Amino acid sequence: METLRVGLLGLGTVGGGAARLLLDEPDRIARRAGRPVRLTAVAVRDPHKPRSIDLAGVELTGDAHAVVADPAIDVIVETIGGTTAARALVLEALAAGKHVVTANKALLAEHGPEIFAKARAAGRAVAFEASVGGGVPIVQALAVALAANQIQSLAAILNGTCNYILTRMTGEGLSYAAALAGAQRLGYAESDPTLDVDGTDTAHKLAILVQLAFETSVKPGQIARQGIDRLELADLTYAGELGYAVKLLALAKLTPAGLDLRVAPTLVKRGAPLAEVRGPYNAIRVVGDSVGDAFFHGRGAGAAPTASAVVGDLIDVATGRAQASSRVASLWADAAPARPLAPPSKIKSRYYLRFTIADQPGVLGRIAQVLGDLGISIASVIQHDSGDDAPDSSPVPLVIMTHHAIQADLEAAIALIDRLDAVHASTVRIGVED
Ligand code: NAP
Ligand code: HSE
Repeated sequence: METLRVGLLGLGTVGGGAARLLLDEPDRIARRAGRPVRLTAVAVRDPHKPRSIDLAGVELTGDAHAVVADPAIDVIVETIGGTTAARALVLEALAAGKHVVTANKALLAEHGPEIFAKARAAGRAVAFEASVGGGVPIVQALAVALAANQIQSLAAILNGTCNYILTRMTGEGLSYAAALAGAQRLGYAESDPTLDVDGTDTAHKLAILVQLAFETSVKPGQIARQGIDRLELADLTYAGELGYAVKLLALAKLTPAGLDLRVAPTLVKRGAPLAEVRGPYNAIRVVGDSVGDAFFHGRGAGAAPTASAVVGDLIDVATGRAQASSRVASLWADAAPARPLAPPSKIKSRYYLRFTIADQPGVLGRIAQVLGDLGISIASVIQHDSGDDAPDSSPVPLVIMTHHAIQADLEAAIALIDRLDAVHASTVRIGVED
């Protein structure tokens, strides 16, 4: 059969990993694809930069547009990242009649409607397994294997960098800065790591999963989002004392009031599968009406796991499976959300709260009064003995775990509590996922 000729844009962590796998395992890939899959051309920003990969027989260029326009190429693999050049190149590739494989979640989350409209018009496939979960095949799982289900909820760790940072901070007492530097060194982080630590990357991935699981287009900006960049070590320590791990979770729940979508640091009970996900690993817990509970786990970032997903997509293009599913799937077909988003007045969760208060008589009572007035019930309290010698006015932490409470009520209570004279700093609030 005819060779599938691949043009690769980008030769960094993901592109380099994919190139290596294509060049190292041509026989295995050809067997699984039913025909040879050949890396024909690679475009990079700087073609003169020394590379650790031997590209003998492969054209290397600084002109990505030329690769996209080359009639000798059948499929473009986009691994350059960002949403400006990548968007233009992907649209050009589709217009030139090429299929596209991409690892770029920001691009799909922000420009999914435009890209999939173009792909449909051109009769071409866009495959994107590597965009969510690294090597974890969650895109295929939702699009194919679980397609018979109405998904009811997703709870997921989708950012390898954040999970690596939290694991090293809690497990080894490493500083936030040192843990982030480690994630960057290992190729897990985005070129701008702010996107990882402020939760944007997780929101991009959640928007893609929401499209697959709930047939709903949400813009990442519509997802309530908080990252790990403002977490304090004290909260990781108190969570541990209470028997919880803190994880950056992406949550999507189908509720009678609409979809409840959130990205936030969340307390997860130790021993629960999500709490035990370590380092750069990702995990996705899916609940479907037919399958029930399903759990996916694997390496979420880095060259080899992501190459596994990219080359898997290329094999799907080579066999024609990607084209066949693109013809029937209606991904991002409608820019308006098919399901409304649940308002905070309808969202319920348990919460971890850390107040910074003056160590004076009656303060705990006043806080409990405000919470009680808003119907928020206390499940447990931690206040460590600061000793009799500490001055009464010096601030001390008070940690409260609540029972289930309505988010809007909790926000109103915190606003009132933070105005009390005895409260010295903004209250920390972290949701609990049971
Ligand atoms: P990276 O290591 O920074 O590599 C980016 C590559 O793109 C470099 O080779 C760079 O060339 C090239 N490039 C940048 N702009 C270009 C342009 N205009 N024309 C041609 N080449 C250009 O990035 P990465 O970590 O591989 O990430 C790439 C994409 O995959 C992003 O969308 C990211 O979100 C996604 N992703 C990353 C991971 C991961 O673990 N890192 C996992 C899943 C998905 P030079 O080498 O010459 O600078
Ligand atoms: N920066 C991303 C992460 C890469 O750390 O998860 C994988 O998408």
